[in-house]
Amino acid sequence: MTLPRSLPALPPGPRLRPAVQRLAWAERPVGFAARCHARYGDLFTVRFGRGLTLVLASDPAVVAAVFAAGPEDVRRGQAPTRRRILGDGSVVVLDDDEHARHRALLRPPLHGPALDAHARTIADVAARSVERWPAGRAVRLLDELRDVTAEVLLRVVCGLDGRDADAARDRNALRAALAELRAASARRAPSIPLVRRRWGPGVPNRRLLAAVAGIDAVLLPLVAARRAAGGGAERPDVLSALVAATDADGRGLSDREVRDEALTLLVTGHDPMLSALAWTFERLVRRPAVLERVRTDGAYADAAVREVLRVRPPAWLTNARTTARDLRVGDHVLPAGTMVTAFAYLLHRNPAAFADPAAFRPERFLGAAPSPSWIPFGGGRRRCVGEHLALLTATTVLRTAADRVDLRPAVPGDELQREVGTVFLPADGALVVATPR
Ligand code: HEM
Repeated sequence: MTLPRSLPALPPGPRLRPAVQRLAWAERPVGFAARCHARYGDLFTVRFGRGLTLVLASDPAVVAAVFAAGPEDVRRGQAPTRRRILGDGSVVVLDDDEHARHRALLRPPLHGPALDAHARTIADVAARSVERWPAGRAVRLLDELRDVTAEVLLRVVCGLDGRDADAARDRNALRAALAELRAASARRAPSIPLVRRRWGPGVPNRRLLAAVAGIDAVLLPLVAARRAAGGGAERPDVLSALVAATDADGRGLSDREVRDEALTLLVTGHDPMLSALAWTFERLVRRPAVLERVRTDGAYADAAVREVLRVRPPAWLTNARTTARDLRVGDHVLPAGTMVTAFAYLLHRNPAAFADPAAFRPERFLGAAPSPSWIPFGGGRRRCVGEHLALLTATTVLRTAADRVDLRPAVPGDELQREVGTVFLPADGALVVATPR
């Protein structure tokens, strides 16, 4: 493509030395990005030096263009740390045809009729959790919901319901190893993996690799067992579906690739789902009328969760893409090698994208296709593969709780947003008082 020479290359951004920008990002990425947005608007550039440049977009048209860009224009980039943990066969690190092939194989067990079986699992996990919530005194729901999130993912992805002794042993071992992996990766680190790799504690350390070994000790035999059992119809879990899945050419996934994808779902799904669940309760206990309607109206519950994800998108940035060649966005041309990401948090507050953005209004999502600027799950070829499962989980847990208990906030005012890893969580842990109905 020949691009007009008159267009400015990168959007404006702070003139601070790259080392200073790098530090500001590493220390307080959200605060730094918000200050840049206040000064430069919906499209700005931060420079980290050593050739690393990041463009953040909260302009509806620009975000749409970035999501629509094909593999010849944008790529996922190298992400070596993720590759070491998740493996070369993870959809998160793949590009091009192989990326599309893996996504196509992952889709059926996470969409459509497969979700009906998952719905029963989720309702079961949710009911057991709500029964444990102490009556009439403040409870940090975040802790309860962490358990729900881990349990839903282990059961949906691996089919580990713990009913027989082997499954219970595998489930406990896998849960512990995944928690260890999270703890090993949780050291404060900037949110852009590439920056983390070069300047943060991102290089896989021994503890991280030991946690991965612990996971593999359970996951690889489980994949082999599902393969030996022929995968498929009897078991609704994603592992069984993946060992049996084939593409249009009759090609399936190797055991290693199934392991990589299963681990990818378990790891990438956890934190955003926990954040979504926590904010669903934090926001809705402050809106009794919404909570009341959720009890009787499933479509409204879905709309309420979507509105929560608009005002509190778990991932404040979508995964960064790297331009493979000069790419025109809006009035600018991003040189090849620039990282570009959608600033979901601010796009969701942009009046050009949502009328009266400060108002909490589930009705926006009733009977209407969500606006293309609603991007809690990203967009384009890399849109979240767990979106439907996540929405189903959030509405099911919400409705199960609303059915059984009355909920009110345990602290006055809105909870602050605390950045943990790459997601926001309610600072008081979604502190509520639940009383049986
Ligand atoms: C409310 C919960 C969730 C939110 C808000 C969320 C958000 C996101 C976002 C923003 C992206 C990046 C999309 C992009 O860059 O365009 C993403 C990608 C992804 N998500 Fe989720 N996610 C959630 C739950 C899940 C769950 C439950 C799973 C797994 C079961 C999952 C698996 C993935 C995977 C594998 C990708 C990478 C897709 C690719 O690169 O092709 N997510 N998610």
